[in-house]
Amino acid sequence: MRAVECGYTMILYKDIFSFPGHYMSSNYARDRIKELRTEVDHHNHLYFVENSPAIDDSEYDLLMRELLTLESDYPDLVTPQSPTQRVGGKLLDGFEEVAHELPMLSLGNAFDGNEIRTWHNRISGILESNDFEMSCELKFDGLAVSLLYENGIFVRGATRGDGATGENVTLNLKTIRSIPLSLRGESPARLEVRGEVYFPKSEFERFNISREKSGLQSYANPRNTAAGSLRQLDPSVTSERPLDIFIYSLGWAEGNFRMPDTHLGTLGLLRTLGFKINPHNFLASSLKEAIDFYEQWTQGRENLDYECDGVVVKVDRLDYQQHLGSVGREPRWAVAYKFPATQATTKLLDIRVNIGRTGTINPYAVLEPVEVGGVTVRQATLHNEDYISSKDLRIGDVVIIERAGEVIPQIVSSNELLRDGSESEFFMPAECPSCGDQTSRNIDEAALYCTNASCPAQLVRLVEHFASKASMDIDGMGGKLGIALINNGLIFDVADIYTLRSEHLLEMDRMAERSTANLLDAIENSKKRPLSRLLTALGIRHVGTEVADSLADRFGNINNLMTASEQELLAIPAVGPKIAQSVSEYFSSDSNRRVVDKLKQAGVNTKIGDIESINRPIQQIFTGLRFVVTGRLEKFSRSDIQDLIKQLGGSVSSSVSSRTNYLVAGEDAGSKLSDAARLGIVILTEDDFNAMVDQRPFYDD
Ligand code: IVH
Repeated sequence: MRAVECGYTMILYKDIFSFPGHYMSSNYARDRIKELRTEVDHHNHLYFVENSPAIDDSEYDLLMRELLTLESDYPDLVTPQSPTQRVGGKLLDGFEEVAHELPMLSLGNAFDGNEIRTWHNRISGILESNDFEMSCELKFDGLAVSLLYENGIFVRGATRGDGATGENVTLNLKTIRSIPLSLRGESPARLEVRGEVYFPKSEFERFNISREKSGLQSYANPRNTAAGSLRQLDPSVTSERPLDIFIYSLGWAEGNFRMPDTHLGTLGLLRTLGFKINPHNFLASSLKEAIDFYEQWTQGRENLDYECDGVVVKVDRLDYQQHLGSVGREPRWAVAYKFPATQATTKLLDIRVNIGRTGTINPYAVLEPVEVGGVTVRQATLHNEDYISSKDLRIGDVVIIERAGEVIPQIVSSNELLRDGSESEFFMPAECPSCGDQTSRNIDEAALYCTNASCPAQLVRLVEHFASKASMDIDGMGGKLGIALINNGLIFDVADIYTLRSEHLLEMDRMAERSTANLLDAIENSKKRPLSRLLTALGIRHVGTEVADSLADRFGNINNLMTASEQELLAIPAVGPKIAQSVSEYFSSDSNRRVVDKLKQAGVNTKIGDIESINRPIQQIFTGLRFVVTGRLEKFSRSDIQDLIKQLGGSVSSSVSSRTNYLVAGEDAGSKLSDAARLGIVILTEDDFNAMVDQRPFYDD
């Protein structure tokens, strides 16, 4: 996925200002901006819609950066449909209601061959012929939305809601790169298209892995996560979710424009306008061909990167659709032919728990083995206590389980009617099953934790995590060897890994001279890992690789981090209250501080290294922050202060809006000062600003 941000390293920053942008006339700038937008839009389309990029990412980044630079020099030329405006919408209080101009219909279902034949017979009767073509399409399992375009420009996007009224989620939809912000070529004056937003399966797995690494709860399935992502009040959260869309129909179109007279013809037109249309759509000339399509995808869907729960069969000719009409909210001219369920019924034999590396107590279901979609399922995740109680699961219940795509099996529901009284309720353990220490739950979290930092079960997972590739990368450590070392009393915490000698290792199962020597080498090499890797490796709750990078960047060495207050931590853009609390709790524990001391004693690197500091010569303390500068300054020229803000990762705009974070106000500041005060924006004097800049971290030990 492409992520373009302005000026995140010194080198790129220089690049930006080597563009002739600064010296352009505004006419020239206007033309160049137009040219760049067309070009960026074109490459976005090739990359996100057609899946066939024509230039590499660095060339694309150059175009985007030139555009960003010009737009920051000429803010009046920024328009909502510029490709730079996809991310960074404002925080919303709630979603407005949108009344759909034409209702968004739902579909009747067919669950087997008989039901699809019945549907086909019925419409053949009404059309007085069975000689009509049908569009066969995958039925994407996501969230239906409508997109409104006026004069070729995306002006509003809404969820389906109850079909008559949905919610205005325009800003969130703009973060989806395959939704064109402006259409290509001639288009009807107004048109509304409909499609399904989804979370690609591969991205979903990646997303969950990274959440788990940060000690966060993983999400249950792509569909609900897509729906949740689209309804975020902060569009910048949505922009971090790699959502995608397939457009599956035209809602309506207005204006003097000749429209095709078939459904697939219309989708073809929508494709030329820049919309992402599924490449597997198929025109069937008989029911047999439609059924063949369905059978092909019953198996084939496993290999798709999106979830589908059936095939939608639609009469292709629009005049026939018109003639067939709807019954209630379901059109007669279309039907959803559902794939066989990936669900099965089985018995919940037991509920057990395992312990995660940060001490989370994770319940899971032990099931009577059952086959679902060709795989035997024996266990299912139960997430947490609330999940179990919301589904009222009891040990001994008959339950429906579901396996969707690559996703781990879930329990959908239990059947209360089949209870015979022998079922028993499950309670999360008050004591950790591994070490016997008390468990506890934070008020605003669903997870239950074991509070003992040296709990052996946690330690097994922590050693595994500490040694993993993304952490200290100690090949051969963890797994069974980790367990054996812990059970033999050779490791009580992760720092003890560095005290291991060959005589200890040789005593372990399957450890010969050579594997011992290799492991000791790997342990020795791991001492040189960058600080950010060590911070990831410690397994601090909510600290994954990205947060660890920011912490390393900001504090430069582990001592500075250990003594940082929650307030100082919160000043980092990537750190919210949960992370700040978790980091400061971690370092306030004596046993954790002892571990860090032992690591230092063992010679493990605890400072930001040369390599890291060369790549990041300037600490970008203003990343993501928007400044406006006004009035007469004493120490800076206007362009100097703007350059400095940008150099530190921030951006500068010419007018105050609700998206502004800081107004730097000099002498004789005018209306911008009152605007900022009205909007509650933080106002800085030149001295305040200097103090912020001076508080930048510098690296000494
Ligand atoms: S056409 C009147 N085509 O299914 C026909 N819908 O159960 C309206 N869906 O709300 C829908 N893939 O969210 C159509 N290729 C497809 C679809 C599709 C998924 C969803 C859509 C709709 C629901 C109806």
